[in-house]
Amino acid sequence: MTVRRKARRTLGPRKPAATTGPSGTGRVKTVATKQAATKEASRAATRRRKPAMPNVESAFRRTRASVPVIVLKLGGELLEQPSDVRRIAAAIVALTKRSALVVVHGGGKEIDAALATAGIPKQQIDGLRVTDAPTLDVVVSVLAGAINTRLVAAIRRGGGRPVGLTGADATVATMKRAAPITTVAGDRVDLGLVGDPIANGAPTLITALVAGGYVPVIACIGATRSGQLLNVNADTLASHLAAELGAARLVIAGGTAGVLDDAGRTIARLTTGDAERLIKAGTANKGMVAKLQACRSALRHGVGDVVIANGREVRLESLAGGAAAPAGCTQVVR
Ligand SMILES: Nc1ncnc2c1ncn2[C@@H]1O[C@H](COP(=O)(O)OP(=O)(O)OP(=O)(O)O)[C@@H](O)[C@H]1O
Ligand SMILES: [Mg+2]
Repeated sequence: MTVRRKARRTLGPRKPAATTGPSGTGRVKTVATKQAATKEASRAATRRRKPAMPNVESAFRRTRASVPVIVLKLGGELLEQPSDVRRIAAAIVALTKRSALVVVHGGGKEIDAALATAGIPKQQIDGLRVTDAPTLDVVVSVLAGAINTRLVAAIRRGGGRPVGLTGADATVATMKRAAPITTVAGDRVDLGLVGDPIANGAPTLITALVAGGYVPVIACIGATRSGQLLNVNADTLASHLAAELGAARLVIAGGTAGVLDDAGRTIARLTTGDAERLIKAGTANKGMVAKLQACRSALRHGVGDVVIANGREVRLESLAGGAAAPAGCTQVVR
């Protein structure tokens, strides 16, 4: 204290900043450095008031301004055979060169097989899995354990920078337990341990990873704020994340050549109204019901468009935002 007062008297406010220097009792602060310290303290206070990771957020916004954000949803059947996984991984690496990419994957068929092995009956309604506690255990182990790590390893082998996550990781998504649904057939059904994503703003963990040049690879599991794990349909999670990230395009890759009409031909372009009619008519059923409902939600929340493609037949890397959807795909628009 004494030292500081003495220094102020000797230096005066307008003298050039004679930085700090040693004294008999420690380092002497000049007026200039004190002012700088006050400024720094006020900057630190401003930083504390700002939302978390503002620099990452602005880096992500810059990324989004320069390249399109694409959310790529992969159906589980594309991630079973090693040759498919290799090809998908190569497409992911190629896509990351042209877009900011977030990958979400399902695992329907592999979960079905694991349930059968465990002797647990499968129950699905309009493409949504009725999930009790033993089913959830299988879902978590297959999705987060086997499939996610398999895809992450393949992307690494292909030269990419994947980070394996689930929707339960910090800020990726927050779920509430899904309310009972009214099925296409008009019944009320409680799906059990199934999650419904809550609008929660930009998922900062994902934006940080994307801004840092990583590829988030997200298994479709979520958690409530209190930490209850829940099974989430992969199309639902992908649609939610595409909306929260302001994605230019949601690409849904599966095992069919887009949405098929009654004669089994690809429908090139659908509005959400057309999709509704296909569901009512029964032309779109099972997993396609959940998919088309997810498309509608994404488009309502500002996603540019949705392309549904056969992940084995279409070069996924050709689907970077802005590019027209090639033949054999369905483009869903508002
Ligand atoms: N009109 C339709 N056009 C195309 N597929 C349809 C149609 N109606 C029903 N489907 C069914 O929807 C299925 C796709 O949904 P499904 O949930 O089975 O797979 P996925 O969503 O790609 O994978 P995952 O559930 O692992 O994420 C198709 O394999 C097909 O059997
Ligand atoms: Mg599905």
